[in-house]
Amino acid sequence: MTPESRPVPTIARVFDEGATAYAEFWAPALHRHALTLLAAVPPSADPRTVVDVAAGAGTLLPALRAVAGEGGRLVALDYSAGMLALADPTVPRVQADAAALPLASEVADVAVYAFVLFMLPDARGAVAEAARVTRPGGQLLVATWGTQLDTAADAVVREEIDAAGAAPFPALARSDELTDTPDRVRSLLEPAGFVDVTTTMQPLEAVFDAASALEMGTGFGTMGWRFRRLSPDLQRQVTKRAADRLAVLAPDDFVDRSEVLLTTARRSPSG
Ligand SMILES: C[S@@+](CC[C@H](N)C(=O)[O-])C[C@H]1O[C@@H](n2cnc3c(N)ncnc32)[C@H](O)[C@@H]1O
Repeated sequence: MTPESRPVPTIARVFDEGATAYAEFWAPALHRHALTLLAAVPPSADPRTVVDVAAGAGTLLPALRAVAGEGGRLVALDYSAGMLALADPTVPRVQADAAALPLASEVADVAVYAFVLFMLPDARGAVAEAARVTRPGGQLLVATWGTQLDTAADAVVREEIDAAGAAPFPALARSDELTDTPDRVRSLLEPAGFVDVTTTMQPLEAVFDAASALEMGTGFGTMGWRFRRLSPDLQRQVTKRAADRLAVLAPDDFVDRSEVLLTTARRSPSG
């Protein structure tokens, strides 16, 4: 089978299709949290190699360029070509599965996994890869979800997509139960060879409005996937009904307070 004819995994297609809406609405909501992770990286006069695994649309790349420093190296990897296409083209972008990174062993001084481990079929494979590619003593930065809370606005869009008879999203194995509490993150990282595992928790506090909630709900993620598979007539119906209902919600109904877990760790210096 040639690489071109290899089937694109569903998760990558979800992000390919939803890349524009993701980059416009969701990436900015996550960004300030992921940025706080970078504060854990100690300053260094030496250039560093930084790998952003599941870099998505590349929101973190400008900040990671600073972490890499003058003469450092930065690479963005993601399964979704559509997401990577939106990332800074001056940074090397590589389409790859987090479970099989096309990187040499112990190459990374800093490895970043922002908002990805929970959506993998088995995060342990990706964490083993993280341990392989990070040099002894190197830094690992991870963002995952704790409790994920649907906003009332999300529920409205979902109800209208359901009411239109949209087919369910195919069930994909996930790793939420390995990544959704500080203890679970520690239990995931330590056996792979990471030490000094520290997790902080903070609410997302992302504020949307009727227009952005509708664009997100019908644009990306599993709801967007289901919406796009409706007929044009049904899409119009969902859009109209959801817009009418969103227009009368209160501002608080658009605030996403899901828990964000921010974890820093180091690859054991003894390798
Ligand atoms: C929620 S987005 C996070 C993107 C970026 N890190 C950010 O903070 O905005 C998750 C990303 O993981 C990617 N992804 C999902 N499964 C993957 C896999 N097995 N290997 C590599 N990337 C994957 C998706 O394509 C998507 O770009």
